[in-house]
Amino acid sequence: MITHQQPHEAVERDREGHTSRSSATASTRPPAVSLRGIRKTFGSHQALRGVDLDIYPGECLGLVGDNAAGKSTLTKVISGTYIPDEGSISLSGEEVRFSGPADARNRNIEMVFQDLSLCDHIDVAGNLFLGRELSRGFLLDRKRMLDEARRMLGDLEIRIPKLTNKVAMLSGGQRQAIAIARAASFKPKVLIMDEPTSALAVAEVEAVLSLINRVKAQGVAVILITHRLQDLFRVCDRIAVMYEGTKVAERQIGATNLEDLVKLIVGEGVRH
Ligand SMILES: Nc1ncnc2c1ncn2[C@@H]1O[C@H](COP(=O)(O)OP(=O)(O)OP(=O)(O)O)[C@@H](O)[C@H]1O
Ligand SMILES: [Mg+2]
Repeated sequence: MITHQQPHEAVERDREGHTSRSSATASTRPPAVSLRGIRKTFGSHQALRGVDLDIYPGECLGLVGDNAAGKSTLTKVISGTYIPDEGSISLSGEEVRFSGPADARNRNIEMVFQDLSLCDHIDVAGNLFLGRELSRGFLLDRKRMLDEARRMLGDLEIRIPKLTNKVAMLSGGQRQAIAIARAASFKPKVLIMDEPTSALAVAEVEAVLSLINRVKAQGVAVILITHRLQDLFRVCDRIAVMYEGTKVAERQIGATNLEDLVKLIVGEGVRH
């Protein structure tokens, strides 16, 4: 995992001249994802204006910024949904060009969208195996799917009492956990979550945050977009702040606080 005693720890400098010593950049491992000079324009609107970003295995990077700052667009570039106009994407040191989301999934990049993409009328096990159902001959192997589903959820310490319940009957937090478990079951190297806790009750937020910590502990590079800044301090190792299509700052989690982040998010200290 990430090493902390490298002799040549990298020192990052953000736009304001703050420096941060990144434990992740001190790793000998290349970043799981490395973005350089990413630009994306919609019509005449520049949603991304040349973004550089690295995300390392086993770390959680919090991606924050005001509405329309470009967070979702940036992660959609990583997940192959948007093709950037300019810039490069490298995965574990190898430059790639995605022609669509299937390319990114084949490269072990998973994204949990806010709508969760679950099928309400199918049960928990069915959702976990949607599109890759287990069969025996021509028949669905329900027993094996239930056993496997139990194991998948158990590995992440997710407790759903009845896997034969339709997903429509579950709480928001349980649905979110299933969506994350499904994404985690594809053995991703990179897992992107866009606002996973925004619609959840307090106890459900706790459960999703500890789930993120467990996924991270498996060595996955996690990108978490959230407006709930307090959540960042529970799971993130580093924070990147976006402002009007630009990454304006990066902070090690121990080198920032809520006040600092709020200032950066609203653009205080950002030179125009
Ligand atoms: N498909 C699209 N077509 C046109 N404009 C788009 C498209 N997707 C994003 N944009 C624009 O790009 C800008 C960045 O949007 P984005 O969704 O990345 O912001 P965000 O940081 O995720 O904001 P929020 O916190 O509100 O989700 C916005 O001005 C948005 O209107
Ligand atoms: Mg968004």
